[in-house]
Amino acid sequence: MDIEPFALERWLAEHEHGAAVNLGDSGVRPLDADRFDTDPGTLGYVVPTNGDPDLRERVADRYDRGADEVLLTCGTQEANLLAVLATLDPSSHAVCVTPTYQSLYSLPAAVADVTRVELAAPEWTLDPDAVAEAIEPNTDLIVLNNPNNPTGKIHPEETVEACYDLAAAADAYLLADEVYRPLAAPDERVEPVASMGPHGISTCGLSKGWGLPGLRFGWLAGPPEVVSAAWAWKDYTTIAPPAFGQHVARQALDRETELLSENREHVRRNRDLLGEFAAEYGLDWHLPAGATGFLTVPDAFDSGEAFARALVDDGVVVVPGETFGRPGYVRVGFGAERETLREGLDRMATVIGGERGP
Ligand SMILES: Cc1ncc(COP(=O)(O)O)c(C=O)c1O
Repeated sequence: MDIEPFALERWLAEHEHGAAVNLGDSGVRPLDADRFDTDPGTLGYVVPTNGDPDLRERVADRYDRGADEVLLTCGTQEANLLAVLATLDPSSHAVCVTPTYQSLYSLPAAVADVTRVELAAPEWTLDPDAVAEAIEPNTDLIVLNNPNNPTGKIHPEETVEACYDLAAAADAYLLADEVYRPLAAPDERVEPVASMGPHGISTCGLSKGWGLPGLRFGWLAGPPEVVSAAWAWKDYTTIAPPAFGQHVARQALDRETELLSENREHVRRNRDLLGEFAAEYGLDWHLPAGATGFLTVPDAFDSGEAFARALVDDGVVVVPGETFGRPGYVRVGFGAERETLREGLDRMATVIGGERGP
């Protein structure tokens, strides 16, 4: 099994630490731990190792599923890994919609054959006919990210349903990483695929919407055969969900309405700021849900990497579009503290070659 180096994570590992202004992250600025009780009591393994049954049931309610149709994981990342291991083997084929977060095509490609279906710029439209064409007799999995990282695109419900129907007709599963869904306004949210029927698998977690990436808390929800196969793999990955994570996750879910509306309000205001900047400097983007904008590169730069390197030299980290296979773009995270975003945009303006107004 070969795994591609994770271009985005390597770029961040190289540049994020010690940067004056970090606009490389894709989530909301993290919440302080002191907003929660952080004493879980004894630090034993979480038992049962698929996660506390009450908490699983609460998560399962979100999908109209039962507690045994949910596995609690170390972040959405582990949920995605386990979903791939549970559904693919070397004789399988997967259809992966890109550009997206690299695990959503490199993990399937480590196990099985992959055909990528590209979103069409500038609206980042997903064409279900292209997904249909990519399906092979041995297709076992179709992978989507909704809302999408890096573009912030919300694939509309009819498109997701069309993909679900294609998966069902192929006797395959549709896996949707929905980690940015809580950041979309409630009236913009698309039904999670795990609620669509027996071929839907949803992954999610508290890193992005709740602003709690350090908790490493996520989940996988879907049909019981997938969840139990994923649990069988989990015995070999991390055994159980994190005890701290589970303890704080209970509280974060109790306070979901308050925390999500606070975070959504924060990213909406920041999104307006980045939108004004983009308009001022003639950079195009598709108005994103989530907390990342995928912006075209200013004319003075040949590529996303050239622009991102010039910004790094000036202390600002953004992510070059090359890490998503789209060299004409950079991904700018706007979930940071407002002053941090302002400072980053001021520096960006200087790098582009103009002074910003007050
Ligand atoms: C689409 C997507 N899925 C999963 C992850 C990782 O999430 P977690 O911190 O919950 O493991 C990220 C992180 O950027 C992401 O963008």
